[in-house]
Amino acid sequence: MNMAQSSHRWWDREVGYEVYIRSFVDGNGDGIGDFPGLTEKLDYLAWLGVGIVWITPFYPSPMCDFGYDVADYTGVDPLFGTLDDFDACIAEAHRLGLRMLIDLVPNHSSDQHPWFQASRADPDSPMRGYYHWRDPALGGGPPNNWISHFGGPAWTYDEATEQYYLHLFLPEQPDLNWSNPKLVREFDDVLAFWLDRDVDGFRVDVAHGLVKNMLMPDNPQRFPITPDMSPRQAFGCYDHRYDLDQAGTTAIYRRWRAVAERYDALLLGEVYLRDNNPNQVSRYVANQDGLHRAFYFAPMHTPWDPVAMWSTFRDALDAAPRDLSWAISSHDDPRAPTRLGGGELGQSRSLAYCVLLFALPGLPFLYQGDELGLEDVDVPLDRCLDPVAIRNQNPADGRDACRTPMPWSPGPAGGFTDGAETWLPVDRADAHTVSAQQDDPGSVLYKYQELLAVRHELGDLHAGELEWMTDRAAAVIGFRRGDCVCALNVAEVATDFQLPSGKWRLAFSSQRPAGAVAEAAISLDAPEGVLLVRVPDTA
Ligand code: GLC
Ligand code: CA
Repeated sequence: MNMAQSSHRWWDREVGYEVYIRSFVDGNGDGIGDFPGLTEKLDYLAWLGVGIVWITPFYPSPMCDFGYDVADYTGVDPLFGTLDDFDACIAEAHRLGLRMLIDLVPNHSSDQHPWFQASRADPDSPMRGYYHWRDPALGGGPPNNWISHFGGPAWTYDEATEQYYLHLFLPEQPDLNWSNPKLVREFDDVLAFWLDRDVDGFRVDVAHGLVKNMLMPDNPQRFPITPDMSPRQAFGCYDHRYDLDQAGTTAIYRRWRAVAERYDALLLGEVYLRDNNPNQVSRYVANQDGLHRAFYFAPMHTPWDPVAMWSTFRDALDAAPRDLSWAISSHDDPRAPTRLGGGELGQSRSLAYCVLLFALPGLPFLYQGDELGLEDVDVPLDRCLDPVAIRNQNPADGRDACRTPMPWSPGPAGGFTDGAETWLPVDRADAHTVSAQQDDPGSVLYKYQELLAVRHELGDLHAGELEWMTDRAAAVIGFRRGDCVCALNVAEVATDFQLPSGKWRLAFSSQRPAGAVAEAAISLDAPEGVLLVRVPDTA
């Protein structure tokens, strides 16, 4: 075995797929997605060509943040099924050759978790130290100026024990104290529980947040907060010097890595740092001893502009040449076609953009519905359920628009449920459903399926060294990996792209059928993303 082969890991060749379980498929007619529904549709994911499925939280939860408020780390909420349903889902996935990641939420628990209940009930409980409790500031009020991602102070006062507890998200999501060795050991057990149930790894929620500066100094404020700002913007007005991205966080992942390696499991972090500084993100995957992969979110926020895009990818790959994870959409952000201009333009840009992300070193993910070209749904305030929208009385601050149920087939509720109601509106045109697109070889869905197949097939997209072919001034972003070339035209007009010497076969285009052979240059539509493969000299 040569070096490249021996260091090959099972996720190197794969594309991941995020399943937002509440909105994937409803198996029992209550209008909410669940494990029996997901199990039934795994063959669709295998057909699409996905290799890894990440399932968002399904643990027992009061659902204040739709499952990201966990009341029991080793169970399944009855809304989603039973542990047996979970086991059946994993077994079916493995039978189909899919790997399954579950979402681990270690930064905070639910306030209904027995740990927090004990912690709150008694300041002398050993579990008091599982969370961050502090006296009021001198003169009263919260202990420091930290604020919550979701709006308002990051501290809630507990009348009974006369202290504040910390929550970087909702008051119903108290932050866990990772400087407490007992808490650290609790999570060792959580990891082992799921690995023994055959999961293939974890997506680690808020991976950049676990450790806090225990002196809890005020965060420096960078900009004034104005009343028109969203909670996310207000959060960005601070330099999160003491509450996020603290030294010591990676020590936790080193500990987990040792366990993960024994099971050949993948650790994939959500490292969502507001400024998207790639050097900060790269620390989580550095030295091959922390997380295996970390999501890099800049591509979801970079405008459709060649200079901005080129710099984004160049800087990211300089900092972390092979360990980042890429996505165009998620359950927390606007869907790419909406963000990139809407309608057909947004759809073609999203597919072209995916060509680039799928050709970069690292692990790309689709979010459910990306493959159908889905846009955000307009969810009116009276149907919004995301606490961030409700607290701020503004649908635009919430995340419901990107979380609506998957449309499987034309007809009532888009085939998502047999029941009469869906938890969020479905509201999709027939042409945007899976079955309509599966019946149409010219559909967006077939394009994504083809892209996944081509990526799987082209070995150099998994192992080839990346060489940039264009610079910051170019309208096309292009690079070479071994015998493959990838190019994305970000300009508003068709643009010529110079090819290396020799003949190049079009292996995939977001705009046209594959197959043509080009020499010297290829003219790219606006927008268009292409993959080309070198034709051997003898051919
Ligand atoms: C992550 C999740 C998001 C959740 C938050 C708090 O950012 O992706 O959905 O609200 O963490 O757990
Ligand atoms: Ca259900």
